[in-house]
Amino acid sequence: MILSKSILFSAVQPSGKLTIGNYIGTMRHWSKMQNDYHCLYCVADLHSLTIQDKNFSLRESILDTISFYLACGVDPNKSIIFIQSHVPQHSQLNWILNCFSQFSELLRMTQFKIKKTIKNNYIKNTNVGLFNYPILMASDILLYQTNFVPVGRDQKQHIELTRNIANRINALYGNIFTLPVPLISKYGSKIMSLLEPRKKMSKSDINKKNVIFLLDDIPSVVLKIKNAVTDSEKLSRICFDLEKKPGISNLLEIFSSITNKEVHILSEELKGITYSEFKSIVSDHLSKFLLQLQKSYFKYRCNESYLKKVAYEGAFKAQLKAKQTLNKINLKLGLV
Ligand code: TYM
Repeated sequence: MILSKSILFSAVQPSGKLTIGNYIGTMRHWSKMQNDYHCLYCVADLHSLTIQDKNFSLRESILDTISFYLACGVDPNKSIIFIQSHVPQHSQLNWILNCFSQFSELLRMTQFKIKKTIKNNYIKNTNVGLFNYPILMASDILLYQTNFVPVGRDQKQHIELTRNIANRINALYGNIFTLPVPLISKYGSKIMSLLEPRKKMSKSDINKKNVIFLLDDIPSVVLKIKNAVTDSEKLSRICFDLEKKPGISNLLEIFSSITNKEVHILSEELKGITYSEFKSIVSDHLSKFLLQLQKSYFKYRCNESYLKKVAYEGAFKAQLKAKQTLNKINLKLGLV
């Protein structure tokens, strides 16, 4: 008997420079996953329209993001890499799902509450797209009959919403949508800000010292790690304790994720060293890792015609799948 592989979908919003949080929370898993699943990796450009900044080039950012997908080891011969706006079915399904979603459930979305209250120049416009965003995300996922969605912890609530919408429609019209399951790692699913380790590291942070960007130059990385907040215990103690030691725990999670070593093994190995020694070990490893990634990134980034070819071929394959789901729901709804 031939068992077909499960479908896996993930995406990144090209709304700014990618961070080590994006990599650790989701992208680092993608290349391994290609062997076990039918993978679709999407550049969620329509999501980026919720943020308007005239100094920002969405076009560049989309191509940057595809280059990072490739640099992280995603192989377009094994996975579908595509740009969301190249597959119009995302927006079409979005409208349908809107009509099966409740205003009150969207009001409960933590990401929306955070984004609408951020008081900085980057996001001071609470547009309807920002509110509606989780439903577009539900469309992304449900369009492909997705089984698994690897994401960081901040996206968990959006996937629960996706399941609720799918359940609601399935209850009315029969089994139309597969119920997606989030894949969230125990460690690394929420990398925190370097200076404020109780706050998520985010692309849009105005304080760039909080964030390691994947394209940061090495001296900046070393300096940012050196300045990262630890704690005021009299003796340095490297251990994982989110409550009492959020800064050290965060550095441990970063270190563990890029070395592929378990957090508890690292804590054992690092016993007795000072915080400053620990930081220089972390920045050494992180710098080596980033140099390698950047080298690969630039190789792809300078070849725009290749990036476009990957995206167009990906969109063609994605559309074939997307049309099937859209036809199925249109038929059930009585759209002729
Ligand atoms: P975005 O672009 O904000 O983030 C992309 C992915 O990175 C994860 N992430 C983090 N993980 C760990 N620590 C952090 N500090 C951190 N910051 C971000 C996010 O959880 C995410 O997995 N709405 C999504 C994009 C999207 C999507 C989808 C994802 C659109 N459609 C469908 C999955 C399925 C977003 O804005 O992610």
